[in-house]
Amino acid sequence: MRTPIIAGNWKMFKTVAEAKALAGEVCQAVAAINQVEVVLCPPFTALTTVKEAIAGSKVGLGAQNLYWEKQGAFTGEVSPQMLEGLCDYVIIGHSERRQYFGETDETVNKKIKAALAHKLLPILCVGENLAQYEAGETVAFVGSQVRGALAGLSAEEVAKIVVAYEPIWAIGTGKNAEAAGANQIIVASIRQTLTALYDESLAQKVRVQYGGSVKPDNIEGFMAQPDIDGALVGGASLKADSFTVLIKGALVKFKG
Ligand code: PGA
Repeated sequence: MRTPIIAGNWKMFKTVAEAKALAGEVCQAVAAINQVEVVLCPPFTALTTVKEAIAGSKVGLGAQNLYWEKQGAFTGEVSPQMLEGLCDYVIIGHSERRQYFGETDETVNKKIKAALAHKLLPILCVGENLAQYEAGETVAFVGSQVRGALAGLSAEEVAKIVVAYEPIWAIGTGKNAEAAGANQIIVASIRQTLTALYDESLAQKVRVQYGGSVKPDNIEGFMAQPDIDGALVGGASLKADSFTVLIKGALVKFKG
């Protein structure tokens, strides 16, 4: 079975002190949970502090973005070389970055390649907007995002990637997708595209998260779906108690 992975995307929330406190609380709360991979993605400013706060625990660390060049005159950007050794994961192509910061499938592809070259595991975000959803374009659109993001990558590289399916209309809105429907979209748009690009065995290896208003009261429904391997969580990851419920919710995978 694919190991479930619950990642907290803290977005532009938490000062360094707040991040430290939250990371410490999460570590304590999940200390006895071994079957679920937990990743915290604080803002860049808090990465070092959170790394210290989670030291000795099994909780992993991720960045929320990177730029693809190693170094240079790119004011305000953070390079993969700077993140190597500091964190394990990096979120790439989040819909907020695509929407507000002009990221495209092409830049997402460059960022994924840069991340992998520096031992960072990408959490690749894909997902349709409301108009596309209502027009029935979801499967074709998400499939095209996957193809664009993975252009030129080997099967070995893609096996390391986590894909997060996040319908944009469900992010931060309280309107989550219906679990069985999300599972169907993941199969039709992500696993089938991976099968077409590589093969069925790779498509079954890649972990796919659902994201978009995942909360304590709906986590088990998502995690009970066979093709949903975890969650990328915004709002509910900002408090240790709700995030802990989500991590425990992933244990539903191990119940007979
Ligand atoms: P949300 O955010 O859980 O607040 O909807 C999810 C995300 O943006 O990754």
